[in-house]
Amino acid sequence: MRLTFKPNRGRQWTAVCLTAVACVLAQCGHAPSSAGPRLAPTQPNRTSPLAESMRHLDAELVGFRTRFLEGDGEWAGATFTEFDLNDLAPTDSSMLVEGYKALAMAFEQRIADFNAHPDAASYSMVVSGCISCHQKACPGPLERIAKRELP
Ligand code: HEC
Repeated sequence: MRLTFKPNRGRQWTAVCLTAVACVLAQCGHAPSSAGPRLAPTQPNRTSPLAESMRHLDAELVGFRTRFLEGDGEWAGATFTEFDLNDLAPTDSSMLVEGYKALAMAFEQRIADFNAHPDAASYSMVVSGCISCHQKACPGPLERIAKRELP
């Protein structure tokens, strides 16, 4: 009796677990509306257009920060590349979290503000814009972004 009962219970739990996992996956992969950003085709070995823009912005942060701290203490002429983050495809749809579009627009405004008035304050606003989105959409690079803050 026991021997036949146990495997049944095991199967039941397996079914419950699989259902739970499927629900979580469905939620993470929640597709954006057709008006939202497009997704990169599934090419595991290629960098997505969004990831590419992020590396570019990160390099610009490093350049401006280094020049300010170790160079002439100047911001004049510093200009971030203005990417349309809502139009660049990420690796995975789960990165397009609720509120992503608004975070991207707020970030682009900070970039425009810095480009109009490059200084330590507007630079710091850009870095906190990076952090705001990453806390929600993609926590991996947060440690790296923290190193871009001014001392
Ligand atoms: C509106 C949201 C948003 C903002 C703002 C944002 N990021 Fe990202 N970032 C992402 C997402 C989503 C990814 C994952 C992209 C992918 O893998 O396709 C990412 C990826 C990255 C990566 C990893 C790139 C790689 O090589 O895979 C780095 C580094 C990064 N961001 C740094 C930054 C920095 C620095 C800033 C500010 C200048 C910034 N991000 C602003 C959403 C954002």
